[in-house]
Amino acid sequence: MSSIKFFITLFLLLVCHGAFSQKEVVHKICFGSCAKASKKQPILSLAARESPDLFIYLGDNIYGNTRDMDKLKSKYLKLGKKAEFQELNDSTTVLATWDDHDYGENDAGRHFSRKRESREIFLEFWKEPETSERRKHKGIYHSLMHGPQGKRLQVILLDTRTFRDNLTKLVDKKRYKNDYQPCQIADSTMLGVEQWTWLEKQLKKPAEIRIIASSNQFSHEYNGWESWTNLPHEQQKMLDLIKSTKANGVVFLSGDVHWGEISKMEMEGLYPIYDITSSGITQTWNKPESNKNRIGAVVMDNNYGVIEIDWEREAPELLFYIKDNKGEERVKMQVNLSELQFKP
Ligand SMILES: [Fe+2]
Repeated sequence: MSSIKFFITLFLLLVCHGAFSQKEVVHKICFGSCAKASKKQPILSLAARESPDLFIYLGDNIYGNTRDMDKLKSKYLKLGKKAEFQELNDSTTVLATWDDHDYGENDAGRHFSRKRESREIFLEFWKEPETSERRKHKGIYHSLMHGPQGKRLQVILLDTRTFRDNLTKLVDKKRYKNDYQPCQIADSTMLGVEQWTWLEKQLKKPAEIRIIASSNQFSHEYNGWESWTNLPHEQQKMLDLIKSTKANGVVFLSGDVHWGEISKMEMEGLYPIYDITSSGITQTWNKPESNKNRIGAVVMDNNYGVIEIDWEREAPELLFYIKDNKGEERVKMQVNLSELQFKP
């Protein structure tokens, strides 16, 4: 083989393996959460057939529910062997964050005794490169930038488990419901000091669109299940940080709750903060909660989320979808990127 042929072949191989993916424009993202490895996962095949540029796992990617790390690992291996997972994994770049059940235990936070071991298993399964920044700090938070100037898409993967304080269990049943009531202790944290400092740096980086993947819901109405609404001072801190960093183009993705919905939070001095919740890949729930911030239908069947980005328009346009286990569009919403900007 001539040296020119060798270098062309090497270049094509690198491109095929995504080595240059951070320069590529992202037009389509699929995402989902809440998947038992013991169940069939046809949602993953549907997502693969969408040919997205990225698929983002939003947590509860397996149901470990254990302190036995061999058991946790074996459930990841079971997911890895599934044909529908391999179909997705072979077809696109797969990113992941975790929630409680793949972290280890239901609703577990910073006191989970096996968090270091669980982190190692997570990073190994999701093939985080040995040289990745993600391996240089505690927890699994991470950020990636895709696309050239003018078409930059930042993906921020939050870690809502490793640093999170205990939540306040429901006591005041007259005012609140389900498992938790809002915590009034001002220094109780969702992300922890280091992750907040890191996040501020990320939000200051220039980008046109920023996807913040949070396992727990952000923009919805309090409903007593795990979410940012249980730590209202931390939810406010996030909104204040978006304001102070002047970070345009933020859209949240969340999972966890076993239904799909789009929530829209409107605040003084800030553009609307959308939160697209897709859950679950195998899990369902029988009763949706009220949500005054919900736009459109609530999807109680297995579902996955899709974001399409049309960069070619003068003002780029985003299309948000929640699609069901037949690939049918159950929620569709169009947002112009100019809506997700601070007023000059
Ligand atoms: Fe969860």
